[in-house]
Amino acid sequence: MTTTSAPISRRMAQISPFQVMELLTQAQQLEQNGQEIVHMEVGEPDFPTPAPIVHAGQQALAEGNTRYTPALGLPQLREAIAAFHYDYHQTNISPERVIITSGASAGLLLALGVTLSPAERMIMSDPGYPCNRNFVRFLGGEVDSIAVGADQHYQLSADAVRQQWQEQTRGVMVASPANPCGTLLPFDELKKIEKEVAARDGTLIVDEIYNGLSYSDSGHPPATALTLNSDHIITIHSFSKQFCMTGWRLGWMVVPAALVREVEKLAQNLYISPSTPAQYAALAAFSTETLTILEQYRQQFRQRRDFLLPQLRQLDFQIPITPEGAFYLYANSEKWGDDSRRLSQRLLHEAGVAVTPGSDFGSYRHRSHLRFAYTTSLEQLELGVTRLKQFREKL
Ligand SMILES: Cc1ncc(COP(=O)(O)O)c(C=O)c1O
Repeated sequence: MTTTSAPISRRMAQISPFQVMELLTQAQQLEQNGQEIVHMEVGEPDFPTPAPIVHAGQQALAEGNTRYTPALGLPQLREAIAAFHYDYHQTNISPERVIITSGASAGLLLALGVTLSPAERMIMSDPGYPCNRNFVRFLGGEVDSIAVGADQHYQLSADAVRQQWQEQTRGVMVASPANPCGTLLPFDELKKIEKEVAARDGTLIVDEIYNGLSYSDSGHPPATALTLNSDHIITIHSFSKQFCMTGWRLGWMVVPAALVREVEKLAQNLYISPSTPAQYAALAAFSTETLTILEQYRQQFRQRRDFLLPQLRQLDFQIPITPEGAFYLYANSEKWGDDSRRLSQRLLHEAGVAVTPGSDFGSYRHRSHLRFAYTTSLEQLELGVTRLKQFREKL
C-alpha cells in the first residue's frame, strides 16, 4: 500500500488542539470499555435544555422552519434579545446591533475577523479561554498573553494593558466570569481598560458567555460591558451555558453600529446563517417559564461550587479565590506533583476522574494547575472527591 501525505497549510502548525475535547474523547473510550468516569473536564451543563425551548424547536421543525434565515439572524430573535438585555440589565440596545451567531465561537471569530488585520496583535490573559489564541493565529495575528494569578484576580488590569500595548496592538480580549478561573473582572477595572483601548482606537472584546451564571447573594447578574455604551466594545454571548443549549450552536454578539454591515458580510460568507430551528427554539428562551427553570439550574451550580470548593481545598488543592461564576475551579495542584498533564492522565486512567490540565489554558504555571468543572451532579462530585482521596492515599 502506498501512503501519500496530504498537503497541510503552514497555518496549521500554529493551531493547537482543544485538549479538553481530546480528553473527553479519551474518557468516552474508557467508558465504552466499561469503566465509569466522573466527568469534571467538560465545560457544558449536564442539565437538559429547558422544555419550553425544546418544544419551540420541535414546533419549528414541524412547521418546516428549516431554511436559511438572514445572516444577521431572525429579526424577532434579535428583538427578543435586545428586550432581554433591557429586562435583565436595564441596558437599552438597538436590535440592529444584535447579531445572532453559531455559538459564541462564531461570535469571537467574526469579532476578530472584522477588526484584526494580519500581523496585528491582541492582548489576552494567560490562563484564558484556549480557542481565542487559535482564532487570532488563524487570522494571521499575534497573541500577547499577560500572565495573571490570584493577585490579579486572574484577570487583566488597565495598567497591564497599558504596559503591554505596542504599535501593532489592535485590541484586548477579556471574559467575565472567566474560563478557567471563574472570576469576575471588576466593573471599575473594565471601565479603565475600555478607556485605555478607546484612547488607542482599539477594540475591546468582552466575552459575557457566563454572565448569567454568577453566584452573588443578590442573585443579580454582574453588570454588562454594554452599559458602557462604547463604540470600542464588542460583547459576546451564547445560549450554550446559561440556557443549556451547547449542541444547538447558538449565540449572539452586540457590536457598535458601524460594524454591523462588516459582520454581516463576513457571516454571509462564513456561515450563510445560524441554525434556523435553533433560532426559533431560542425565541422561548426568555419566557418566565424558561427563566424559572434556569434559575433552579443556577442555584444547583452554586450548591455544587459550595460543595466542591472546600473539598478540594481539604485535599491540598490551592484555590485562593472563591470564583464568583461560571462552573469551574482552577486549582493549584503543586502538592500533587509538578506535571498536571501527567496527573490528569493518571487521574483519568487510575482513578476514573476526568479533569483538564492547565496547559489547555496557556503556559503560565500550567504545569501546576488543573481545572475542575462542576458540570455534573452532586452525587457524581461526591464520588469524584472519594476517588481523589483514595488516589491521594496511594500517591
Ligand atoms: C469563555 C468561553 N467563550 C466561548 C465559548 C464557546 O461557546 P459556544 O458553545 O457558545 O461556542 C466557551 C466554551 O466553553 C467559553 O468557555
